[in-house]
Amino acid sequence: MLVSATDMLKQARKEGYAVGAFNINNLEWTKAILQTAQELNSPVMLGVSEGAGKYMTGFKTVAAMVKAMDESLGIKVPVALHLDHGTYEGSYKCIDAGFTSIMFDGSHFDIEENVAKTKELVSVCHHLGMSIEAEVGGIGGEEDGVVSQGECADPDECKRIADLGIDMLAAGIGNIHGKYPANWAGLRFDVLEKITEKVGADMPLVLHGGTGIPEDQIKKAISMGVSKINVNTECQLYFQEATRKYIEEGKDQQGKGYDPRKLLAPGFEGIKEIVKIKMEMFGSVGKA
Ligand code: 13P
Repeated sequence: MLVSATDMLKQARKEGYAVGAFNINNLEWTKAILQTAQELNSPVMLGVSEGAGKYMTGFKTVAAMVKAMDESLGIKVPVALHLDHGTYEGSYKCIDAGFTSIMFDGSHFDIEENVAKTKELVSVCHHLGMSIEAEVGGIGGEEDGVVSQGECADPDECKRIADLGIDMLAAGIGNIHGKYPANWAGLRFDVLEKITEKVGADMPLVLHGGTGIPEDQIKKAISMGVSKINVNTECQLYFQEATRKYIEEGKDQQGKGYDPRKLLAPGFEGIKEIVKIKMEMFGSVGKA
């Protein structure tokens, strides 16, 4: 069931768990995530980066595919179709295409411009019944060409953005996209605490860069107000490992092992496996 993320995140914030936002790239990714959410009776968000949207020939294709698949698979759990790290222009394209949620990432603008653009988009989204995420402080690393050094968000700026009526707030707390380097210092819980104090106990916070954060840090972050966790790279790694194994075992050369539906099946199962691990870790199982 396609819905905005507002209610699922409010519930997660209140009950102390997090909803996973998994990035999609194609049909296999989408189907694997939707099926797993349904099997585990978990709410879920499908993240679409601008790069992935372009790869799938545009946001309209993505929205049409997700809507049709949600119906054909008989998905009953709440699913939000969400733009990930959207530009101002990309946000409007997703609003037009029929997404149910967007992230406007104005973190690279100065705070006045971030506030002005976020404010405008909050009013458009809420008028249409969509949810909106905003960002303060860059998430480090690189995702689909979006590069940031990663900085901790300023709690006062978080409050200014949160007060605009957004549904979820992404605030940098030392998290980065992609694999964490061996010398990573861990999440800055001191910063998270200050942010929560400022924005209040009702604001669902978003943790980007969910790949590779140790479970104890995930659980602590959730206990401190994180209600949405983004995962992208880890699904790619599970897909890659399973596909590599299939080919290295020579299965693509046995019978009709070259059939794309057979060739992509192990990777599909790999995505299901990691999505299940994450949903269990985030505590969203059975919460739909
Ligand atoms: P990872 O690729 O590190 O899992 O981060 C995903 C993300 O934050 C998407 O916005």
